[in-house]
Amino acid sequence: MPASRTAEYVALYRALENSERRRAPLFRDPLASSFLTGGRSIALGVANVPGLRGLLERYADWRAPGARTSAIGRTRFIDDVVRAEVAAGTRQIVILGAGYDSRAHRLPELATVRVYEVDRADTQAEKQRRLELVEGKRKDVRYVAVDFERQHLPSELADAGWRADQRSLFIWEGVTNYLDEAAVGAVLDMVGHTAPDTAIVFTYIHRGVIDGTRQFLGADKLVASVKKLGEPWRTGFVPDELPAFVASLGLRIEQDLGADDYRARYFGDDTRLAGYAFYRIAVARVQKP
Ligand SMILES: C[S@@+](CC[C@H](N)C(=O)[O-])C[C@H]1O[C@@H](n2cnc3c(N)ncnc32)[C@H](O)[C@@H]1O
Repeated sequence: MPASRTAEYVALYRALENSERRRAPLFRDPLASSFLTGGRSIALGVANVPGLRGLLERYADWRAPGARTSAIGRTRFIDDVVRAEVAAGTRQIVILGAGYDSRAHRLPELATVRVYEVDRADTQAEKQRRLELVEGKRKDVRYVAVDFERQHLPSELADAGWRADQRSLFIWEGVTNYLDEAAVGAVLDMVGHTAPDTAIVFTYIHRGVIDGTRQFLGADKLVASVKKLGEPWRTGFVPDELPAFVASLGLRIEQDLGADDYRARYFGDDTRLAGYAFYRIAVARVQKP
């Protein structure tokens, strides 16, 4: 398979944040632009021409309603979770389906934390190839090539040095919707049976988007476009059912927010940012015995 195209779109949204001038940027991601090719690279160039940025954003928001602001908002939300977990004593972080996530390199809080990045071999190789060409990267990230639907994550991670008996934070951002249900359940089950205090922050989509039982602004368009990119959405959850599902796998939900909620935290009540309400973030932790 080719390297993930959806991962590149997320990198584009993060790269745009670097040149945000109309409000305080939610984060800086100096490496994001290094991962862009083709139309995404051109889009970033256009956005950086004075006067054209607003046009580019309106076009991007028309093509994928809410995707850009959801991606930026969730990136910041997860950065905040990372800082809190590290402050509470976490010393190993596993980024699942890492794509072009550059937290290992850009968050100073991770300088002394062991970071494992897991992804399919093709996307991971492409990321490493592009990182070779740039300055400002950390060299000690441990790359673990795993396909969640075909390989056994715990043994691959253990081979790379990850310790199941020590507290971890797992980040699973923008990935569960691309997998089959069995693979999503297997990863959550693995996390639920690791060391006490281990947490996972993960995104998921409302199941209504997959089975058609709920209508969300822009969802039909988005479902069609990810399918066209060869990365269709396959799994979602009903938020009310999530706590019982993860409890059966050893986890307890601590937070569960829709895109409108986490966007409101960082952008206030700007209703022009509508869309992607079905795209949720949950934080879950290993249940105490
Ligand atoms: C939308 S991207 C998100 C990337 C990254 N987490 C971020 O937020 O920037 C989805 C990622 O999931 C990965 N992925 C999809 N299916 C996978 C599978 N079966 N096993 C491992 N990784 C997978 C893709 O390679 C890609 O990096």
